[in-house]
Amino acid sequence: MKIYRIDQNSRKKINDLVTDRWYSLDMIVRGERIDLSDADGWYTADEGGITGLLTFRIIGGEMEILSLDSLKENKGIGTALLDTAVSEARDKGIERIVLITTNDNIRALRFYQKFGFDMCGFFRNALDRSRKLKPEIPLIGTDGIPLKHEIEMELFV
Ligand SMILES: CC(C)(COP(=O)(O)OP(=O)(O)OC[C@H]1O[C@@H](n2cnc3c(N)ncnc32)[C@H](O)[C@@H]1OP(=O)(O)O)[C@@H](O)C(=O)NCCC(=O)NCCS
Repeated sequence: MKIYRIDQNSRKKINDLVTDRWYSLDMIVRGERIDLSDADGWYTADEGGITGLLTFRIIGGEMEILSLDSLKENKGIGTALLDTAVSEARDKGIERIVLITTNDNIRALRFYQKFGFDMCGFFRNALDRSRKLKPEIPLIGTDGIPLKHEIEMELFV
């Protein structure tokens, strides 16, 4: 599988993908609006186009994963993108990677924990606040589960 760094040539396709998957280029994390339109990250692609995307930022000496999407699940794309993030963090001397997921996202909770992430924070009803900044966020999330809370996860690398 080939992994590419987001660059100027891929940016439009990346931004279209983010908008398609997350309703807009804004990601709301802990009540903060984060613009993904120029976020750093990596993507995977095959002959049909982009198959996966991870975006991140470095903040406070830590790496924060802002989005992770696999368009062809259970083929190792999510793991390969996370492995790339871990390598980059190690190269930069970063010791901790953090991310936020939501209570409905059972698949992501399973995936991240099996990868080695642990839960380290719980933000009750955080999505009420997020919807004030991003009304497109649905009330019902994955598998018909009410989308309500943020769960913070960490990985020491
Ligand atoms: C969570 C998510 C990123 C996982 O991506 P993925 O590409 O399916 O991840 P992987 O393929 O690396 O791993 C998933 C499973 O497939 C398995 N797998 C990996 N390669 C495989 C292969 N070649 N054949 C069969 N299974 C494989 C992995 O072992 C893992 O299984 P497990 O859960 O039993 O351990 C993806 O489900 C997704 O995009 N979800 C929607 C967006 C989302 O919620 N993102 C996270 C928001 S914070």
